[in-house]
Amino acid sequence: MDRRDFLAGAGLLAVAPTASSAARGVDWGAVRREFRLDPALTNLGLFYLASNPREVRDAVDEFRRRLDSNSHDLMPEEAREVAVALGQYVGGAADDIAFVPNTTIGLSIVYGGLKLRAGQELLLNDQDHAWHQQAARLAAGRVGANVRVGTLFENPAKATEDEIATRLRNSITPRTRAVGITWVQSSTGVRMPVRACASVVAEANRGRAREDRCLLVVDGVHGLAAVDDDAARMGADVFVAGTHKWLFGPRGTGMVWVNPEVSDQIVPLLPSLSDRSPTALLGPGGFHAFEQYYAVRAAVRFHQRRDPRSRRPHAARRLGLRGHGVLRRSRPHRPRAGGTVAAEKHPDHHGVVPHPVRAGRHVDPQHPGGDRPDCAGDQRAGSLIRGSSAVPGGSSRTLVFSICT
Ligand SMILES: Cc1ncc(COP(=O)(O)O)c(C=O)c1O
Repeated sequence: MDRRDFLAGAGLLAVAPTASSAARGVDWGAVRREFRLDPALTNLGLFYLASNPREVRDAVDEFRRRLDSNSHDLMPEEAREVAVALGQYVGGAADDIAFVPNTTIGLSIVYGGLKLRAGQELLLNDQDHAWHQQAARLAAGRVGANVRVGTLFENPAKATEDEIATRLRNSITPRTRAVGITWVQSSTGVRMPVRACASVVAEANRGRAREDRCLLVVDGVHGLAAVDDDAARMGADVFVAGTHKWLFGPRGTGMVWVNPEVSDQIVPLLPSLSDRSPTALLGPGGFHAFEQYYAVRAAVRFHQRRDPRSRRPHAARRLGLRGHGVLRRSRPHRPRAGGTVAAEKHPDHHGVVPHPVRAGRHVDPQHPGGDRPDCAGDQRAGSLIRGSSAVPGGSSRTLVFSICT
């Protein structure tokens, strides 16, 4: 079945498209109806915690039904299929995937399990999420290592790849055992140039002993399924992401991918259910909400079916939110590296607003519901807004939107 047949079969095509107009011909209203989002809300919560499309809800229900009818027989083959699906989705291998309940626990397991010595350091930056920083601090504190938090750009609106790479190069010392960055920052919407950072780290690693090697750890939660790129092929050593945000996966699910060349550098912190591979062993064990875990595969499938030509379609674009009337682009930035906005941001407020918004209200976390004259005239409300730009070609800019409903 090709893309067109699939979409037509799924009732998602409003008109029969030519190949080049296939995306435009998709009935995005039908796609939105796959979600149970309250149409009275302008929902930005997908950046926060996903609403699940029907396919994912059905998969959760089906696995729950099976477990309720026989709660003894877990389904390791389903877990394996999830690893295969995620591995393929990120451009890696199933054996290099560990299941974790969320990004925070994934990062904590990675930093906590990293073979780190007293006197070494973890280097993060001031735009990494607080829980990322906390995970690093807790791990470093246990062994007498340090966490250093740098600044990789002065101004998110003007940051360049060169600025970030140069600052990173100047910050790494022989003691730096890991560099942590965020693929798409929730604080600024900036999409970090992971490949450039990876080159800098590779340079720093020249001549280093294996046990001193600096690893590049990426918090990828707002890039996975939002940026059309292979997470496992950007040069990072570790990629961590919840699958319960942009991938629309079941709540309480996430993944860690580890470059097999460095998997011996991270040891498990907790007993695991899986001995499939050294990386799978990082996934915390004990029994889980298995119906949620097994259904991650349905989330991957949901994305892939929207565009079989790509393993990682730009979800927001595929969901047809380009040019949505309620999004007002406040400023383009990072012209050389963007393509995604994970942040919805009021123009004069630095924070991100990840909450559903009542139709007819303007988004301002400082003044909830306050009217803003500059938003007047842009009064349409949508049922589903994902704060992401959809730059054709996927490689030109990061945008931050303000929202007026
Ligand atoms: C950049 C970033 N990293 C990590 C997290 C925590 O994600 P999780 O809830 O999957 O632990 C968030 C939360 O939204 C985030 O914005």
